[in-house]
Amino acid sequence: MTEQARPAATTSVSSVCELVSVATGPAAPLAARPRGTGTPLSLPPTTEGGCAVVTGASSGIGTALAERLAARGYPLVVVARREDRLRALAERLTARHGVPVEVEAVDLGDRGGRRELAERLAEREVAVLCANAGFATYGELARLDAEREHLQVEVNVTAVHELTLAVLPGMVRRRRGAILITGSTAGNQPGPLNATYAASKAFANTFAESLHAELRGTGVSCTLLAPGPVRTEFAQVAELSKVDAVLPKRLSVSCERTADLALAALERGEGRVVPGLFAKLLATGGRHAPRALLGPLLRTAYRRVM
Ligand SMILES: NC(=O)c1ccc[n+]([C@@H]2O[C@H](COP(=O)([O-])OP(=O)(O)OC[C@H]3O[C@@H](n4cnc5c(N)ncnc54)[C@H](OP(=O)(O)O)[C@@H]3O)[C@@H](O)[C@H]2O)c1
Repeated sequence: MTEQARPAATTSVSSVCELVSVATGPAAPLAARPRGTGTPLSLPPTTEGGCAVVTGASSGIGTALAERLAARGYPLVVVARREDRLRALAERLTARHGVPVEVEAVDLGDRGGRRELAERLAEREVAVLCANAGFATYGELARLDAEREHLQVEVNVTAVHELTLAVLPGMVRRRRGAILITGSTAGNQPGPLNATYAASKAFANTFAESLHAELRGTGVSCTLLAPGPVRTEFAQVAELSKVDAVLPKRLSVSCERTADLALAALERGEGRVVPGLFAKLLATGGRHAPRALLGPLLRTAYRRVM
C-alpha cells in the first residue's frame, strides 16, 4: 500500500460515523422513525395504476402472493411454465376479486423467452414485482445433472436479475414501486449437497438487501423474503423424499402465512422478512455460526432428508 493510501485506512471509527451521518442525515427520534427504508406504505396504491407481476405463481408461495395482491385490487401478470394452472388461477382471481389477470406461460430458464418477457415488462407500468420462481436440487454436485444445475442458476439468479433490471428504471422514474425477491435462509450459509441452490439464494439474498439500501429515498423499495421450510411443492420438485418424515410439520409455515408476512413487510418497506421462529433460528445460525462447524453439520442434516 502506498503512503498516500494509508490515511484513509487509518480514519477513526468516529470520523467514519460522522461521514455516515452527514450522508444519511440526522437520525430521527426512534418513536418517529418509520420501520424499514423510511418509505412506509411503499406498496403503491392500486388507485395509481400499474400492475403486480408474480413469478412462480402456479403453486406455493407465488399462488398465495398472487391471491393476496388480487384481493388488494392489483391487476396481475402471473408467470410460470404450467399454463393450465395459471389460467385456472387467473379465472378464479378475476371471478373473486374483479381484477384482470394476464397469463405469461414462460420458462424462466429459457433465455429467449425470459428476455422477451423482460422486454414486455419494461414497457409496462409495473407497480409490484414479486421475483419468486425458483427450485432446488439436492445431491453430490458431481453426480447431479449438469443441465438442471445450469437451469437452476438461470431461474434462481439470472431471471431475478433480468426481471428486476427490466422494471426498476420505470419504477425509479415514477418514484413508485415495490420489489419482493424470494431468497432463502439457505442463502446465508454453505449448502453441502445443495450447493447450486445455496449459492443461488446467496445471490438473491445479497441482491435484494443491496437494492434495499441503494433505493432509500427513491420511492421504490426492495424487500427480501428469506423463508425457511414452507409447505409447498418445493420438496417434491427437489425430490426430497424423506423431508416430511424427518421435519416435524410444526417447524414449517404455510405459504399463506408466508405471503401475508411478505406483503406486510413490503408494505412497510422493510429490508428482510424471515417467516416463522424456526426459520429465524436457521437464519441466525446460518449467519453467525462458524463456517467450520456449519459445513459438516448441514451435510449430515441434508443427508437425512434426501
Ligand atoms: N418451500 C420452501 O421450503 C422454500 C424455502 C425457502 C425458499 N423457497 C423459495 O420460494 C420460492 C417459491 O417456491 P415454493 O416453495 O412456492 O415452491 P413451489 O411450490 O415448487 O413453486 C415454485 C414455483 O416456481 C416456478 N418455476 C420453477 N421453475 C420455473 C421455470 N423454469 N420457469 C418459470 N417458473 C418456474 C414453478 O412453476 P412451474 O413449475 O409451473 O414453472 C412454481 O410456480 C422459490 O424461489 C424457492 O426457492 C422455498
